Amino acid sequence: MQTIAFLGLGAMGARMATQLVKAGYPVTVWNRDPAKAAPLLALGATLAATPRAAVQSAAVVISMVTDAVAARSVWLDAHTGAVAALQPKAIAIECSTVTPAWVRQLAESVQSHGAQLLDAPVVGSRPQAEAAQLVLMVGGESLALEQVRPVLATMAAKVLHVGAVGQGAVFKLAVNALFAAQLHSVAELLGFLTRNGYAPDQAAHLLGEFPIVAAPIAGAAKMMAAGNTAPLFTIDLMEKDLGYLLDTARASGAKLPSAETARAAFQGAQQLGLGRANVTGLATLFA
Ligand SMILES: NC(=O)c1ccc[n+]([C@@H]2O[C@H](COP(=O)([O-])OP(=O)(O)OC[C@H]3O[C@@H](n4cnc5c(N)ncnc54)[C@H](OP(=O)(O)O)[C@@H]3O)[C@@H](O)[C@H]2O)c1
Repeated sequence: MQTIAFLGLGAMGARMATQLVKAGYPVTVWNRDPAKAAPLLALGATLAATPRAAVQSAAVVISMVTDAVAARSVWLDAHTGAVAALQPKAIAIECSTVTPAWVRQLAESVQSHGAQLLDAPVVGSRPQAEAAQLVLMVGGESLALEQVRPVLATMAAKVLHVGAVGQGAVFKLAVNALFAAQLHSVAELLGFLTRNGYAPDQAAHLLGEFPIVAAPIAGAAKMMAAGNTAPLFTIDLMEKDLGYLLDTARASGAKLPSAETARAAFQGAQQLGLGRANVTGLATLFA
């Protein structure tokens, strides 16, 4: 089995790395706060002190961190960055949600070290990561993808090849925008329905009866009605993703007025101090 380095053990990364260790892969892990590695070490993973140390004998390197700033530090930091120590022919995989522009820049750097980059951002949250039911959108060369498909499939229900390197990020930002717009609509409609004759839980339950409301949106509506904002996917992360989408749209001349409106709503929630709450906290704006 390929030797894997896993960089970033936050809510998603820890769950994804756990799948790999449980499947029997030899996994070296690194996290900025090393304390978070403890459960993985107990399962048999090895801890490295830096991303550079983690990747030294890895055939496959996976990063799962907050944003492009964190990813830049993990991959390219002058002293500790992973890219400088990649094995020739290693496959580097960026699973964090970042910009397509950053992915393409990283791909050049990885290639200059004789390795290859795939971007493979994920759809699905903590429960899906825990159940290996994520959907991965992979950008990059088919041959590289086929070499790591079993690794990716260990964490996912679906592995979709969506184009050249960077296209994973393009598609992920688009899918997230659809999720954001629907969350925004459901949050405001719950406000409307509760002012027009329905208790919040009754409104959420009835919305879920209509095929036009997909199961994850119906689930979010029920969480909103119950005031459940325990973090799965945070308002800060959604706002970050919408910012990346709008930057990418501007650079390509695309117009995304609904995404702009949704981003303003998520920023409104941040201003109320809800950045670390789940996206369902958006309902607070309309309660
Ligand atoms: N949560 C979801 O439902 C979900 C779903 C799909 C995609 N995503 C995407 O997955 C990625 C991770 O999300 P998450 O929910 O796992 O976030 P998280 O729990 O906040 O974890 C963030 C991770 O990034 C690390 N990190 C942050 N800044 C860093 C820096 N400057 N240098 C090095 N490491 C840094 C953190 O290290 P420390 O532990 O040391 O702070 C932690 O390992 C994000 O790109 C997010 O948009 C999340």
